[in-house]
Parts: sequence; C-alpha cells; structure tokens
Amino acid sequence: MSGKLNGKTALVTGACNGIGLADAIEFVKEKADTVIMVSDNNERLLEAKETVKQYGNAEIITYRLDVTSENEWKDFIDEMSKKINKLDVLVNNAGVNKRATFQECTLEDWNHVITVNQTGVFLGMKYCLALLKKSGNASIINMSSITGLTGYFAVAYTASKWAVRGMTKSAAMEFGELGIRVNSIHPGFINTPFNESIQDLIKLSNGMNSLGRAGEAFEIAKAVTFLASDDSSYMTGTEVILDGGLTSGGQFKLLAKQFNNY
Ligand SMILES: NC(=O)c1ccc[n+]([C@@H]2O[C@H](COP(=O)([O-])OP(=O)(O)OC[C@H]3O[C@@H](n4cnc5c(N)ncnc54)[C@H](O)[C@@H]3O)[C@@H](O)[C@H]2O)c1
Repeated sequence: MSGKLNGKTALVTGACNGIGLADAIEFVKEKADTVIMVSDNNERLLEAKETVKQYGNAEIITYRLDVTSENEWKDFIDEMSKKINKLDVLVNNAGVNKRATFQECTLEDWNHVITVNQTGVFLGMKYCLALLKKSGNASIINMSSITGLTGYFAVAYTASKWAVRGMTKSAAMEFGELGIRVNSIHPGFINTPFNESIQDLIKLSNGMNSLGRAGEAFEIAKAVTFLASDDSSYMTGTEVILDGGLTSGGQFKLLAKQFNNY
C-alpha cells in the first residue's frame, strides 16, 4: 500500500521530542523511504528512533547536529551525501524560547534564540540545497509560530519567528525554479515539552481560541506531511496557521463572555 510520502527521503531537525518527533512518526506512517532525525540531544534522539521505528519500515538515520554550527552542517551534509543521493523534504523544526520582554532580555538570551531559531533555519536551507536540488520535486517546511504573525511579549522569539516567515518567502522565490517549494507553519499553543512551564498561560489562551483547547503535536505533523507531499504541489511561499482559531479574533469572544454579551 502506498502512502503520501512514498519513495521520499525526509530530514527533520529537532526531531527528538515534541513536534519534530511527531513529524518523523507521521512520515514513517506515510511510507517515506528514509527519515533522517537530527537534534542536539543524542541520547534523547536514540530513544526517539526506537519510538519512530514502531510505526513502519522506513530507514531511520539519526545524527547529532547543533543547527547553529556551520561546521556541523558541513560535516553532516558530507556524511549524508555518502548515504543518500537526494533529499525530498527538509523540516527546519528545531527551536528554543526565552520568554523575556525587551526590558528583561539580555544580549546573551537574544543571541541564543536568534541563533537557533533564525540562523539555524538559514543554515539548514543553505546546506541542504545541493541534495534538495537533486530531488527535482522537493519541499521545505520552516517552523514559525503565530508569534511570526502577531506581536508577543517574548521579544527574541517573536523576532526569530517573523524572520523565519520572511526567509521562507525569499527562499520560495529563489528555489521555485530549482523544483523546491518552501512554506512556513504557524502553530498556536501546542502540548509539547516546550510549554511545560506555561500551563497557566495556555489554559487562559484556550478560552480565546475557537476550539477551546491547545493543539497536539500530531495535529501539526499532519499539516507538515501535507506540505511535504505532492498533494500541496502548487503551494509555495505561503503560511499555514494551526492555532485553533486563536489569531482569528478569539480575544473578542473571551471579552464578550466576560461582559455577558455573548
Ligand atoms: N509547542 C508550541 O506551542 C509551539 C508553538 C509554535 C511554534 N513552535 C515551534 O515548533 C518547533 C518545535 O517545538 P516543540 O514544541 O516541539 O519544542 P520541543 O522543545 O519539544 O522540541 C524542540 C527540539 O529542538 C531541538 N533543539 C533545540 N536547540 C537545538 C539546536 N541548537 N540544534 C538542534 N536541535 C535543537 C531540541 O533538542 C528538541 O528536539 C520550534 O521551532 C518551536 O518554536 C512550537
């Protein structure tokens, strides 16, 4: 039986937990040939590989890579070029947050978030390009956020996610003629380890979205898989929002309810 990703080789960064792990699982379920899982946390990555293997027969390759390091990207691509002859899907998913306002955010905080979330995506697209070109029909999915669409109190995170949204459009323009589509994903609050420390904020925000709940990692992975597959063959340079309706005016519902106007 064929799946949506039949015959494809896919790479996911930050694949050891949360959304990246869900992407890898979904790719295996949709019969990708090879799924390459990378993360800066090797121990967790090896555990994640065992989980992913249970979902199908794809070849799973794991590799410890810090997405902020140009040298590590170079070594990684040299190594991969010996194992695979093309790359069909790149998911730039690795990300960190420092929930600090302008007044609290140090330069060190700023540089850390920008380097992982923004420079990491730049390096990912730059160094995977040669293998993606060999596909002739490739798809890049960059993980932004709803904070790449609106303002948010975490200044460095917000800046990095707007940058991902912008870079996606520049890349889509440049790579289209190389047979590569590039799109960004914009999740709202999703239940992953990323959000363990902000459960109160999430509870409150649930009252502001149309579905009344946070999302699950697999719900993002389904959309990532759609963008990775040929089903989205005419989509490039665009933004896919998965936020349960949070950015579509949910705050007005909460306000109206509080003032008994709803
Ligand atoms: N969870 C949410 O609510 C949410 C909402 C919007 C956007 N996002 C974005 O989705 C992506 C995944 O988030 P998640 O919720 O699964 O988070 P997570 O913390 O569960 O996973 C993040 C992954 O990134 C990896 N990582 C961090 N720094 C790295 C580095 N320097 N090099 C390589 N890997 C590194 C971690 O090891 C981990 O595997 C992130 O880009 C995040 O900004 C998450």
